[in-house]
Amino acid sequence: MSRARITLDRDFTIGEVPRRLFGSFVEHMGRCVYTGIYEPGHPEADENGFRLDVLKLVKELGATVVRYPGGNFVSGYNWEDGIGPRGDRPRRLDGAWHTVETNAFGLHEFVDWSRLAGTEIMEAINLGTRGVDAAREIVEYANHPGGSYWSDLRAKNGHKDPFNIKLWCLGNEMDGPWQIGHKTAEEYGRLAQEAAKAMRFVDPDIELVACGSSNSGMPTFGAWEQTVLTHAYDEVDYVSLHAYYQEHDGDAGSFLASAVDMDYFIESVIATADAVRAKGKHKKHINLSFDEWNVWYQRGLDTQDQPHNVAKAGWREHPRVIEDKYNVTDAVVVGTLLNSLLRHGDRVKIANQAQLVNVIAPIFSEENGPAWRQTIFHPFARMAELAKGQILRLSVDSDKYENARFGGTDLVDVSATWDEETGRLALFFANRGLEEAADIEVALRGFDARQVVRAEVLEIPEDGDRFTINTQSRPDQVGLKPLEGAKASGSELRATLPALSWAVIELDVAKD
Ligand code: AHR
Repeated sequence: MSRARITLDRDFTIGEVPRRLFGSFVEHMGRCVYTGIYEPGHPEADENGFRLDVLKLVKELGATVVRYPGGNFVSGYNWEDGIGPRGDRPRRLDGAWHTVETNAFGLHEFVDWSRLAGTEIMEAINLGTRGVDAAREIVEYANHPGGSYWSDLRAKNGHKDPFNIKLWCLGNEMDGPWQIGHKTAEEYGRLAQEAAKAMRFVDPDIELVACGSSNSGMPTFGAWEQTVLTHAYDEVDYVSLHAYYQEHDGDAGSFLASAVDMDYFIESVIATADAVRAKGKHKKHINLSFDEWNVWYQRGLDTQDQPHNVAKAGWREHPRVIEDKYNVTDAVVVGTLLNSLLRHGDRVKIANQAQLVNVIAPIFSEENGPAWRQTIFHPFARMAELAKGQILRLSVDSDKYENARFGGTDLVDVSATWDEETGRLALFFANRGLEEAADIEVALRGFDARQVVRAEVLEIPEDGDRFTINTQSRPDQVGLKPLEGAKASGSELRATLPALSWAVIELDVAKD
């Protein structure tokens, strides 16, 4: 048995939980839109073709903001292709994912779907093949009340009232050589600055995200952020980060420590943004938008849904692309990545798990068939539900384990929030120990715990192993079940976490 002692104090807070941390992402990619959220003719689809079975799971997941329409897709996309009568919309070749885009689903459909889902829209614009003109025109179309060419066209297309989209991404992964219209930091920094300026002339109230690095291993990481922000600092509010993690060659120890890389990435971008702030004598801070993150097995050629094989199979509508099936280990890693985001909630104000349905997603759906929760659904849903109020600063003294990539790493990973309004304290744990259970002792300074109101755990099922996944025939094989034995009284909480598990404990507390 390993052990971890955690101390928290009601007065030691990091800041309010940014609700936009529990964001997601819908890209026109594979089956995320088509046969994911949208499938006219499906028995569960409404009159607009929105799948209500998927929508129900999206609501249960608790996603707060959804980025759209890409991703790599957006860098070759004409947003005007997706408006107006469906019969007039062009079929286009999407070079990013080697797919035929029918444009049956576009901006109006996404706005309607978002209203049903209760999610905020985060709209990405194309700064790969397009520029300042298209950028300002989409803002006029979406947000201007009326009396101009683009806003009147919106009304003619069925939405008299403006969409009022607040949050906009200035392109996608423009540092990546794979990106259509890839740019140097100088080229992109100037373009982002000018696009942002023109968009704000149309609507001064929008919030803008500049592209940061596609991951912390990019050769230009750091220098990219510095150059881009030097140009665009005054015009933008956030800089983006993207990161995907996977288990390499059976090295579960390093994979389970992925949040160490996420911590490093976040802290490095904060340092870089703040250095630009100091040098440019700017007043405001640039915050962080971690607008793509997840576990993603980038396997090269070994399955038909891998991008190379999709391209080889020829141009098709909504083929299967990167439909990863997530296991118990992946769910634990996702729990630790959410912890890392939450612990940095003073500067990371937006985060989007990529993606929402079918494509590296917590929700899986079959064409003409059912929809179900993948393993990674569970930590996300619980944290989105319970992480409310103030983020608490924790002191963690955990036993460690050695791994090849990060060296000595805490076996127990944790984050916590305190909601004064409801009197609830929520703690989110991961036990990275593959073999050993972990004994947890939490000192709750400034709180008087009355009772444990919820204690749940996701662990290896009795008849499974750490690779167990949920499938169409066994959709609930990995899920949440009661965590037995969690006890809280006064200023102390004790619990035991099974080997390789993710757990949540919610307490009813009174302030002493
Ligand atoms: O989410 C899948 C892809 O990963 C996105 O299209 C791209 O932005 C990233 O490289």
